[in-house]
This record gives sequence, C-alpha cells and structure tokens, in this order.
Amino acid sequence: MMVKIVLLVLLHALCLKCDISVQVYRDWSDIVLNTTVTSFANLSEILIGKVYNLVVIENQTVPTVPRNILSGLNFQEFRMVNDKITELESGILDDARVENIFFIDNQLQVLKKGVFNNKTLEVLSFMNNRISKIEDGALEGLTVKTLVLTENHLEEITANTFDKSTITMLKLDYNRIVRIEENSFQKISRLAYINLRDNQIKEIGNIFKNIPNLAELNLTYNRITIVGTENFIGSPIVCIYLSGNQITEIKKGIFNSKQYTFIALDNNQITSIEDGAFADIKNLEHLVLSYNKLGDLNRSAIGGFTKAIGLKLDNNVIMHIAPNTFQNVKLKELDLSNNLLTVIKKGFFNNSEIISLKLGHNEIYDIDVGAFEEIKNLAYLDLGHNELSEIKKGMINIPLNNVVLENNKIRKIDKEVLKDFDLYSLLLDNNPILTKGQYESESEEDSSEEDSTEEDSAPD
Ligand SMILES: *[C@@H]1O[C@H](CO)[C@@H](O)[C@H](O)[C@H]1NC(C)=O
Ligand SMILES: *[C@@H]1O[C@H](CO)[C@@H](O)[C@H](O)[C@H]1NC(C)=O
Ligand SMILES: *[C@@H]1O[C@H](CO)[C@@H](O)[C@H](O)[C@H]1NC(C)=O
Ligand SMILES: *[C@@H]1O[C@H](CO)[C@@H](O)[C@H](O)[C@H]1NC(C)=O
Ligand SMILES: *[C@@H]1O[C@H](CO)[C@@H](O)[C@H](O)[C@H]1NC(C)=O
Ligand SMILES: *[C@@H]1O[C@H](CO)[C@@H](O)[C@H](O)[C@H]1NC(C)=O
Ligand SMILES: *[C@@H]1O[C@H](CO)[C@@H](O)[C@H](O)[C@H]1NC(C)=O
Repeated sequence: MMVKIVLLVLLHALCLKCDISVQVYRDWSDIVLNTTVTSFANLSEILIGKVYNLVVIENQTVPTVPRNILSGLNFQEFRMVNDKITELESGILDDARVENIFFIDNQLQVLKKGVFNNKTLEVLSFMNNRISKIEDGALEGLTVKTLVLTENHLEEITANTFDKSTITMLKLDYNRIVRIEENSFQKISRLAYINLRDNQIKEIGNIFKNIPNLAELNLTYNRITIVGTENFIGSPIVCIYLSGNQITEIKKGIFNSKQYTFIALDNNQITSIEDGAFADIKNLEHLVLSYNKLGDLNRSAIGGFTKAIGLKLDNNVIMHIAPNTFQNVKLKELDLSNNLLTVIKKGFFNNSEIISLKLGHNEIYDIDVGAFEEIKNLAYLDLGHNELSEIKKGMINIPLNNVVLENNKIRKIDKEVLKDFDLYSLLLDNNPILTKGQYESESEEDSSEEDSTEEDSAPD
C-alpha cells in the first residue's frame, strides 16, 4: 500500500501519467493540433517526424521538465509558459533540433550545469522566473543569439557566470543586480547588446570596458551617480541609455567613442555639462537630456556636434540661452518645453536648421522681433502654455506650417502677422482674444483690423 502511494506520487512528479494540454502550430498562427497528452512520451509520438513551427504548453502543471522531452523532434520554437516549472532535467535538448526555447512565467530558481552546455540556439528565454543563481559553467559552450533573463532575482554576475559562452544579445533587465564582477562581459564572445535596465548598479568601474563588439548598452533605472571618462573605453558603443539614474555631471571624454549615434541621459540630476562634452561625437544623432536640472544653455556645452538631428532638453530649469548656442548645428528637432524661459531673444536660434521647435510650457511673455527669422526651415513652432499677451508684427514672421499658441494670454494679434504666415494650422485655443467689438473699442487702428482679431479667422 505504502509502496503504491509513493509510486503514484513519484509518477505524478515526473509527469509520466498526467494530462498535459498542448497546442501545435504550423505557420505560427495556424493551429494544427490542440490536444491533451497523458505523458511526454505521448507528446513525442504525436510530434515525431512532422514539421511544425511552434509547440506550446501553457497553464499546465509540469514541475520538472524531463530529459528527452524534445528528443528526436524538429521544430522552430518550444514554449512552456506558466507551467509551474521548478526544475529542468539535464538532457532536455539531447537529440533535438529546436531554434527558440521559452520557459516564461515559471518558478525556476537555479540554472544548473549540464542543461544547456554546448548547445546552439537562437533564443533562450527564462523571462519571469525566480532565478537567483546561475551555476558556474551552466552556460559554458552555449551559443545563443538572444539570452533572456529578464524579470528574475539575480543579485550578482560573476566572471564565471557567462564564461565560455557565445551570446549576442543579453537581457538582464528587471533583476536585483547590485554587483557585477570585472571581466563578466569581456569573456562573452560576440556580445553586442546588454540590457541591465531596472537593477541596482551603483558603480560602473571597469564593468563595460573593452567589450570589443558592444554596440548597445541599456543602464536605465539603476543607481549610478558618477560616470567617469574611463568607464566605456575600448567598447565601440553606438547607443547608450543612462536614463533614470542619479548622475549630476557630464564630463568631457565620457562618451569617447565617435560612433555614438544615440545618448539618453534623461531623468537624472544633471546640473552641469563640461564644455565640449558632446563636441567630438561626430556621429551623434540624438541626445536626450530631458528631466534634469540644467539652468543655462551655451554653445560650449550643448552645441558643437555637427550631425545631431534631435535634441531634447524639456523639463529642465533653463532660463537663459546664450546667443548662437545652436549655430551651425544641423539640429532638426529641438524640444525646450517645460523650462523657465521668459524672453526669446534674437540670436538664440541664429543660424540653425531647426524644423520643429517646442517652447511650450515655459513662462515666455515676450519674443524679440525677428527671433525666429534665422531659422529658415522652421515648420512647427509650439509656443503653447506660455504668458504671451500679444503677437506683434515680426515676432513669428517665417514660413511655418504649424503654430501652436494655445493657453496663452493673447488678446491681440497684429493683422500683418497673419499675412506673413504660410500656415496649415494655427492653434489658438484658450486665449482671451478680444472680440471684434472689444477690439475696436480698445484699438485706435482702423476697422480693417477686424478679420485678424477673431479666433475663427485663423486659416486652417
Ligand atoms: C484547446 O481546446 C480546449 C478545449 O479542448 C479549449 O478550451 C481551448 O480554448 C483550445 N485552445 C486553443 C488555443 O484553441
Ligand atoms: C498516448 O499513450 C497512450 C498509452 O500509451 C495511448 O493509448 C494513446 O493512444 C496515446 N495518445 C496519443 C494521442 O498518441
Ligand atoms: C493561459 O492563461 C492565460 C491567463 O489566464 C490566458 O490568457 C491564456 O489564454 C491561457 N492559455 C492557454 C493556452 O490556455
Ligand atoms: C562541451 O564541449 C567541450 C569541448 O568540446 C568539452 O570539453 C566539455 O566537456 C563539454 N561540456 C559539457 C558539459 O558537455
Ligand atoms: C532601454 O531602455 C529604454 C527606457 O529607458 C527603452 O525605451 C529602450 O527600449 C531600452 N532599449 C532596449 C533596446 O531595450
Ligand atoms: C555652459 O553650460 C553648462 C551647462 O549648464 C555649464 O556647466 C557650463 O559651465 C557652461 N559653460 C560656459 C562657458 O558658460
Ligand atoms: C546672427 O548671425 C548673423 C550671421 O549669419 C549675424 O550677422 C548676426 O549678428 C547674428 N545675430 C545675433 C543676434 O547674434
């Protein structure tokens, strides 16, 4: 009797006798089989010798994935999702030809040695498990394009974790990583992409130095306070995300690779940028400095890059822009919204090539006549949510497509202004624009002004 019970429990644990619902797809969306098997041996019987894209086992109870589960099988993708898996037996990939394997939303805690050694895969995903340990050598000999360890409980990466593996994209985002040993990433061949978003890294040190193929690094939402000039040396990074950290200062030389095309530094505490910090990055196309504490803008800090097309400086505390800051910069899009600008002076945007200029949500009450005339290609100008009370002739006299002036205190618009515009749309909502009668009684000018004073006279 006792023996019988033990045997039953054992059989159940190994899932030799249980009902597992399986979906099999051909051409990804075309479900060819939706069935219940009583054992994994059953599963093999069904699948062997057939060519399918995808096999899915979802919302089942399979605490242990047995060895040989995929034995002799040949399909592109195997997904076990939310199956309460706590253990993978070694040998699950023996004699199988599968490109992508997903063990998503399960309860794995340890990646053990012997399961993936010396295997070749395209994608191997352990997204949303409870992995807190990767045994030394567990990934030795593994060749995989994308290894996903997103949403696990990893606290530490050591030099042995990925030793002798070949990984192109490594996703370690949403873990609890505090410590990364030196030489953790340098030993991974072909490593081109590392995502460490939402971890608890404080110091960068030598972690990301000399990774010969590293092109993209995502360190968003960590606890980095200082970025030094040596941190990324020897790594040909093209795209870096340092958003959501506690960086206060940008020194010249941090971004020492000329290859950078994209740098995100938004949501930090940056108050100062050393002169020329971005000047040598000849290929820089996008620089994001939104949500920092920058107060002044000048050409030495912000100008200087020649190829940049997008610069985001919104949500800072910018009050002053030095003349010619954007001179000869090929900037196409400039976002200065949510700052503390009060007066737009002639010369701020002198000799720039801006197409889209966002100045909304500042405290702008005055604009120098001719302030925008140097921006020859300006097509979109947002001045919404400011303190403008009057639009005078010459303030905005350039061929624009779209102008936003909503939520200001505009009472008067000079009729000549509208003649100057070459507009597709003009937004004037929420302004106390005077009605014809009010305007006439306030205005000493002749009645031909009428047309241009009414909101609905704006061309659409
Ligand atoms: C598979 O079949 C079961 C019933 O046998 C059904 O409830 C379920 O919706 C089916 N799944 C798919 C993906 O077709
Ligand atoms: C599963 O295995 C049982 C017992 O070996 C067998 O009777 C049954 O036909 C098999 N089912 C399928 C779908 O292969
Ligand atoms: C598994 O459960 C999720 C959440 O309840 C549901 O959205 C999904 O359709 C289920 N999948 C299958 C194959 O039953
Ligand atoms: C992987 O392959 C290497 C070299 O062929 C061999 O030395 C090593 O023992 C293998 N590892 C495992 C776990 O099979
Ligand atoms: C890196 O993080 C940012 C969020 O800050 C996200 O928008 C971006 O898609 C991430 N990059 C990659 C390639 O995951
Ligand atoms: C330029 O502005 C940056 C950032 O606000 C500041 O750190 C730097 O000292 C300024 N340089 C000059 C020459 O004014
Ligand atoms: C704008 O640049 C022109 C040269 O292109 C120069 O003559 C003019 O003085 C500059 N304006 C200001 C305000 O710096």
